[in-house]
Amino acid sequence: MKAKLIDGKATAERIRGEVKQAINQRLLEGKSQPGLATVLVGENPASKVYVRNKQKACAEVGIHSVGYNLPEETSQEELEALVRTLNADPAINGILVQLPLPKHLDEEKVLTAIDLTKDVDGFHPVNIGRLAQKGREPVFVPCTPAGCMVLLEESGAQISGANAVVLGRSNIVGMPVALLLVKADATVTIVHSRTKNIPEIVRSADILVTAIGQPEFVKKEWVKPGAYVIDVGINQVDDPNAKRGYRLVGDVAFDEVSEVAAAISPVPGGVGPMTIAMLLRNTLHAAQLADNA
Ligand code: GUN
Repeated sequence: MKAKLIDGKATAERIRGEVKQAINQRLLEGKSQPGLATVLVGENPASKVYVRNKQKACAEVGIHSVGYNLPEETSQEELEALVRTLNADPAINGILVQLPLPKHLDEEKVLTAIDLTKDVDGFHPVNIGRLAQKGREPVFVPCTPAGCMVLLEESGAQISGANAVVLGRSNIVGMPVALLLVKADATVTIVHSRTKNIPEIVRSADILVTAIGQPEFVKKEWVKPGAYVIDVGINQVDDPNAKRGYRLVGDVAFDEVSEVAAAISPVPGGVGPMTIAMLLRNTLHAAQLADNA
């Protein structure tokens, strides 16, 4: 291993500590305890785990969290009515609607219903629109992309002027991380399923962010020596030697790419822990906005 390991777990722990301290300070000053509402519709097992982990992390730093677990058959009207109620609730600073929603629900309409100042996931179309525009700033930046940027900055990567390649164009990670890299003055290429010559484009990257959900897709020969690699993929691969029968790998062939990259984030322990840390930070920010409202 030649590359520096980008330790997301340690960075996330530090940020969680900072959020906790800021919340303690708020309470000493007689300010309100930040509150987060999580909204989960249906029974998606992965979503249940994510939401449970978010609530646990809230408790650890002193954020009051309220979980709404709605049945699969919840109607659009019912879900939007809950969002409106939470918008009006002064004890709730952040509203997180876990995605994906069941197919019959209109995700864009639900996200648009969230008060901009409570949009701690940063998925409101106005927040995403501001992210895409020069000279405009979103109230909140989506958590996983924000976590990628923190890791890049901490790794010492020079972002301004770099060639950055983003694998994947999802609303949750690929597109917002590409927009953040543009805001940070990188020259950005987005690679997706219709892209031709993927290895060649990847090889041009000084900074590579992968978010495609394809186990160990990126090979050593595709990576420019000295590149900074942020791996957002979390993929299960069968492993009879593992206790659970599988292990987690990223979108990057970690061992071989580590031999050429300047720095690389591992899976697990890289971007994963950063998502929750950024959510906690955004929720604290939402409470601070409410102080000054
Ligand atoms: N689904 C996968 N990642 C996320 C996230 O960061 N926020 C929400 N709300 N849903 C997700």
